[in-house]
Amino acid sequence: MPTLNDIRSTFLGYFEKQGHEVVASSPLVPRNDPTLMFANSGMVQFKNLFTGVEHRDYKRATTAQKCVRAGGKHNDLDNVGYTARHHTFFEMLGNFSFGDYFKSEAIPFAWELITKELDIPKDRLLVTIYHTDDEAAEIWKKTGVPEDRIIRIATDDNFWMMGPTGPCGPCTEIFFDHGEQYWGGPPGSPEEDGDRFVEIWNLVFMQYEQFEDGTRKELAAQSIDTGMGIERVAALLQGTNDNYSTDLIRSLIEASADATSSDPDGPGKTHHRVIADHLRSTSFLIADGVMPSNDGRGYVLRRIMRRAMRHAHMLGAQDPVMHRLVPALVRQMGAAYPELGRAQALIEETLRLEETRFKQTLDRGLKLLDEELKDLPDSAALPGETAFKLYDTYGFPLDLTQDALRERNRTVDTDGFDAAMAEQKAKARAAWAGSGEAADLAIWFDIAEEHGATDFLGYDTEVAEGQMLALVRDGKAVDALKAGENGWIVLNQTPFYGESGGQVGDHGWIRRLEDEDDYATVTDTQRMGGGKVFAHQVTVERGTFARNDAVQLEVDHARRGSIRANHSATHLLHEALRRALGDHVAQRGSLNAPDRLRFDFSHGKALSLEELKQVEEEVNGYIRQNAPVETRIMTPDDARGIGAQALFGEKYGDEVRVVSMGVQHGSGKGADGQTYSIELCGGTHVRQTGDIGVFVTLGDSASSAGVRRIEALTGAEAFRYLSEQDHRITDLALELKTQAADVPARVRALMEERRALANEVAQLRRDLAMAGGAAQGGAEAREIAGVKFVAQVLQGVSGKDLPPLIDEHKARLGSGAVLLIADTGGKAAVAAGVTEDLTGRVSAVDLVKAAVPELGGKGGGGRPDMAQGGGASAENAEAAIKAAEAVIGG
Ligand code: ALA
Repeated sequence: MPTLNDIRSTFLGYFEKQGHEVVASSPLVPRNDPTLMFANSGMVQFKNLFTGVEHRDYKRATTAQKCVRAGGKHNDLDNVGYTARHHTFFEMLGNFSFGDYFKSEAIPFAWELITKELDIPKDRLLVTIYHTDDEAAEIWKKTGVPEDRIIRIATDDNFWMMGPTGPCGPCTEIFFDHGEQYWGGPPGSPEEDGDRFVEIWNLVFMQYEQFEDGTRKELAAQSIDTGMGIERVAALLQGTNDNYSTDLIRSLIEASADATSSDPDGPGKTHHRVIADHLRSTSFLIADGVMPSNDGRGYVLRRIMRRAMRHAHMLGAQDPVMHRLVPALVRQMGAAYPELGRAQALIEETLRLEETRFKQTLDRGLKLLDEELKDLPDSAALPGETAFKLYDTYGFPLDLTQDALRERNRTVDTDGFDAAMAEQKAKARAAWAGSGEAADLAIWFDIAEEHGATDFLGYDTEVAEGQMLALVRDGKAVDALKAGENGWIVLNQTPFYGESGGQVGDHGWIRRLEDEDDYATVTDTQRMGGGKVFAHQVTVERGTFARNDAVQLEVDHARRGSIRANHSATHLLHEALRRALGDHVAQRGSLNAPDRLRFDFSHGKALSLEELKQVEEEVNGYIRQNAPVETRIMTPDDARGIGAQALFGEKYGDEVRVVSMGVQHGSGKGADGQTYSIELCGGTHVRQTGDIGVFVTLGDSASSAGVRRIEALTGAEAFRYLSEQDHRITDLALELKTQAADVPARVRALMEERRALANEVAQLRRDLAMAGGAAQGGAEAREIAGVKFVAQVLQGVSGKDLPPLIDEHKARLGSGAVLLIADTGGKAAVAAGVTEDLTGRVSAVDLVKAAVPELGGKGGGGRPDMAQGGGASAENAEAAIKAAEAVIGG
């Protein structure tokens, strides 16, 4: 008996042999469909290939696609547990041709696979075709299906459309006859809805494209899209009519029975079936990035989780059950879907958390429900107000209440529920209107109320499709924005991050899917209407963007990459500061822009250079560690329990996102003993710390009293900064070096200059002395005993200036004697000179020796033609001259 895993391998292996590319299942959250809540068939990821908009390097593909039908149009949630073939999660096997083969190959492929590879007896098979599709009838006949087993169907059942528009075409379906023991009739008969004849495979002949106005045009290339429900095929191959009895789902039912110590087939049978099914959908949704919340996809997940949890509760489970079943699921499906194993811890934690919290109100809610029902007449519907109270106070999604009532054959007054819900919203609005917020913000609350929260996809992708729900221009709602106009656009979902938590809003582009040349640039993204609505500020560059248009959204990747690096670096910086300065360091504000980061924190004084250096080095150490950055969802209390840093004074919701990074090294201790940084954060982050590249602080400054501010750069900006600094230092060094090389020459030149100046000054003094002497008349020669004698007292000259002056006087006299006294500020220098012809009569030495005592000095000496001496009393110069005169007069 083949297991479900065997069947999957057989299917994919068969089509691989037939030249098909085995393509991985796309995520449950569609990346390329603006309106679809969850992937619900294999063709979702290929839809643009059928219309020819997109091309890939293969023309044949085969997949096992994860599907969820629990929200939006296809919603099987209410029936799960009570029927044989309803699931919220199932796998669809498919083969696809994109303009390659068509009907005449698709039909024989299918027939060979099910009758030969899977060995299903031909006489248990029936096929249906669209009533006008003679071509398909012929091919089936040629393939070996007798005419009486080919049933023509005129209804939509055999004309497949993915939606109101898009690729479509007639289809042929293969049915299996489970045998007479089941009630039911062949397709097209009044009993067709019975359990006997079960559709196992649908082959769609993609042949047309349908447009909004209802017209259809032939596709340029004919294509094939098929879908086989693996659970149904497993059932028939394993000899059962009930999908829940097949090996894989049965093993989950047994795990549920084990965990609750109950009989898998006893009175709690339905509960186990619900749990097994919901375990699959919730685990796969969490693995694909959906987190429980009160809006959109997250709310669908919460509804499924809580529904399963009520059923676990009905089984008498005291403690949370769901998370304990995850290992059984990973054992069964982890090989085919590796994302499940990768996310196992996250799935378990998310389920445990949700169940722990829900248990706190579940009992009281169920008690309230019982009490209300006691007082109601037997057949009466539960009042909507009670259902709303269960929703609002006890966290019972409406379908959980309906599910609980189903067991008692009761219903809910859903109109009453809706009315109660509307009334609560009106009250909230009135409260807000009275809160004094600016009136022009009202429009965003209107949009939030009408369309609900925007689904943010940007943690997992930076490109996605979306549908335009509202446009705003100059504070007013408009139907369209034309080329050249500015305004704001709100979509059902977006990969653009709306400014919050210090991280700036994303920039990027929006293109219309109908004509990709029509585009608008996004220059900001803000969260409006109480943070629920992501508003994209746009300038329409080309075309017109109107409400309900389907568009492609693309975030400016490079810019987001830089923002991510800065945001993650901020977390590392925060932790490094805490460790360097102490636990009093708390975040007071931050900015994560593409070109820089800024972090404000409580700390009394400026950081020393050593502290800054230590912090910078530590951050860079954790960057080089290249540790993965992990994200989890927790209650605020649990998050604080593991030491997560939270923003002081910030109000957090029921659940918080916790971002952790870095593996503890060194002597410090991580908040949980292992992890370096753990913070509550809604922002976007790098995958590995190494993606930050490098971290450089620009220094610390005061932001306000008791608050310091550090600005820093990462990645390319940091590199640019460092390399600029490097260039600046190199330039400076070069300049210094050039200057240093000049120094000796310049010193030499200065010395020359100084010497020249000194000479000049001496000459000037001499000139002055000579000129001055002449002017005073003191330099006039007198005759004493036939000897011409010049005597002079000079100011402003020094002793060493005297001999050259003596020589000059001697030269002028031709024959004679000279006595010069320099008054150097009280002291006196004296010099005497006698021309050669007279030295026989008068000696210069005798003149000096006569003068010196008068000047208060002693001694003096030289040669007969030139002698020098000095004394302390220049004021007696006249007496000294007289003494010299006396020597000559003899
Ligand atoms: N897309 C087709 C289906 O979902 C095969 O049935």
